[in-house]
Amino acid sequence: MEKKQIFVHDLLLLLLFMVILRGAKAGKEEEEADRIFELPGQPKVSFQQFSGYVTVNHVAGRALFYWLTEATQNPLTKPLVIWLNGGPGCSSVAYGASEEIGPFRINKTASGLYLNKFSWNTVANLLFLETPAGVGFSYSNRSSDLLDTGDRRTAKDSLEFVIQWLERFPRYKNREVYITGESYAGHYVPQLAKEIMNYNKKAKHPINLKGIMVGNAVTDNYYDNLGTVTYWWSHAMISDRTYRRLINTCDFHRQKSSDECESLYSYAMDQEFGKIDQYNIYAPPCNVKSDDSSGSTRHTMHLPHHPHHPIFRTMAGYDPCTEKYAEIYYNRPDVQKALHANTTGIPYKWTACSEILNRNWNDTDVSVLPIYKELIAHGVRVWVFSGDVDSVVPVTATRYALAGLKLTTKTSWYPWYVKNQVGGWTEVYEGLTFATVRGAGHEVPLFKPREALQLFKSFLAGKPLPKS
Ligand SMILES: *[C@@H]1O[C@H](CO)[C@@H](O)[C@H](O)[C@H]1NC(C)=O
Ligand SMILES: *[C@@H]1O[C@H](CO)[C@@H](O)[C@H](O)[C@H]1NC(C)=O
Ligand SMILES: *[C@@H]1O[C@H](CO)[C@@H](O)[C@H](O)[C@H]1NC(C)=O
Ligand SMILES: *[C@@H]1O[C@H](CO)[C@@H](O)[C@H](O)[C@H]1NC(C)=O
Repeated sequence: MEKKQIFVHDLLLLLLFMVILRGAKAGKEEEEADRIFELPGQPKVSFQQFSGYVTVNHVAGRALFYWLTEATQNPLTKPLVIWLNGGPGCSSVAYGASEEIGPFRINKTASGLYLNKFSWNTVANLLFLETPAGVGFSYSNRSSDLLDTGDRRTAKDSLEFVIQWLERFPRYKNREVYITGESYAGHYVPQLAKEIMNYNKKAKHPINLKGIMVGNAVTDNYYDNLGTVTYWWSHAMISDRTYRRLINTCDFHRQKSSDECESLYSYAMDQEFGKIDQYNIYAPPCNVKSDDSSGSTRHTMHLPHHPHHPIFRTMAGYDPCTEKYAEIYYNRPDVQKALHANTTGIPYKWTACSEILNRNWNDTDVSVLPIYKELIAHGVRVWVFSGDVDSVVPVTATRYALAGLKLTTKTSWYPWYVKNQVGGWTEVYEGLTFATVRGAGHEVPLFKPREALQLFKSFLAGKPLPKS
């Protein structure tokens, strides 16, 4: 009798064991299917790479595309860092991975890759996520999804992605997770962090979220609009008169500005700005002919969608000069094959930014400052940085927004250094660190890669930026 019971018990155990093993094996197989052996024109590297799709909604058929580039050394001991670009509608593969923090840059003929010596994967495992569905290789089988996606769906789908992705890569399950990004990802990053916090309240296996970091981040409509106009004036891009009229005419709290305000924006941009690169006001504009014989490289499509609509103006968010190589490279069938991308035959081309998503954006938070407060209260590390020559989401906008939090200063304003040069300035508050990057445009790691890497290292270490 007793013996028989033990036998049944053992059998059950064995069965359970087999189920677990099979699960692990299925996970392993899925992971192996996503392994990138080599990208076309790629130099030899020592780190592992994976990419592919995670289904985030079975009913609609929404799948998000990711690209993981593991740390160059000891990846198992390094944190997992998610990077998101903004737009809304712009791709983390196009910007974050290929121009900013990723290990590879695309060369001028778009026929090969070369190494970025300041890649953030020298210190962490980088997970680039194209979100929401409709961005880059991420797709939805329900075409109407492209017409009603907004902050909400982006946050919910991105959470689902993180949960499912960790199932596929169990070795990352208890790893420290950081979420980073720039521009309109100033919404996505804290919103996803909040989704994770809510998920963790009920989860058996909570996600080990440690911190967030955002750069030139869309944060709060009122402060962002006020700070942007102030930046234009303080950097002598507009006249005193236009500045005064903008301040007196526009209600920066409103989502939609009045016709009168719109026409002032038009006047400022068309009559006063001139042909500058708004993402880096001191850089040569990219329509200036360089050694690149293909002529004009400026893609004008994104900024001018709603050129004078304050919300959409600040939503545009990438450097229009450099996206061209990416659009050639990532549309190559051999590149897509190597990346396990576009396996279902998406009916349109890969683009760095989706115009249709951007134009039809359904919902946007007026301010993410309340989320900052929640994150700080939960002990999540919050870092905010700003390239100080960007006029699209400028440093003044960010400073007004942060001032709105009324945080206590822990370490007063000081210059921080890289290689004996002032990298920028920083102030440490209770719960939040703010840092500028001197001379950097909107895409900080593109313009100031060494400084950006220092910023990232200090953020991960949770230590103030170097004082010398
Ligand atoms: C989308 O549709 C294609 C073709 O029917 C299918 O193969 C694919 O699995 C679907 N994607 C999702 C995420 O359901
Ligand atoms: C780009 O990379 C490819 C492949 O490695 C190489 O053949 C080509 O010469 C490179 N072009 C430039 C302009 O660097
Ligand atoms: C996907 O592949 C098809 C060919 O099967 C191609 O026409 C389309 O441009 C590709 N779309 C994307 C987003 O890569
Ligand atoms: C669109 O936005 C409204 C609020 O502005 C919201 O109630 C609705 O759920 C959103 N739609 C989707 C599909 O998320």
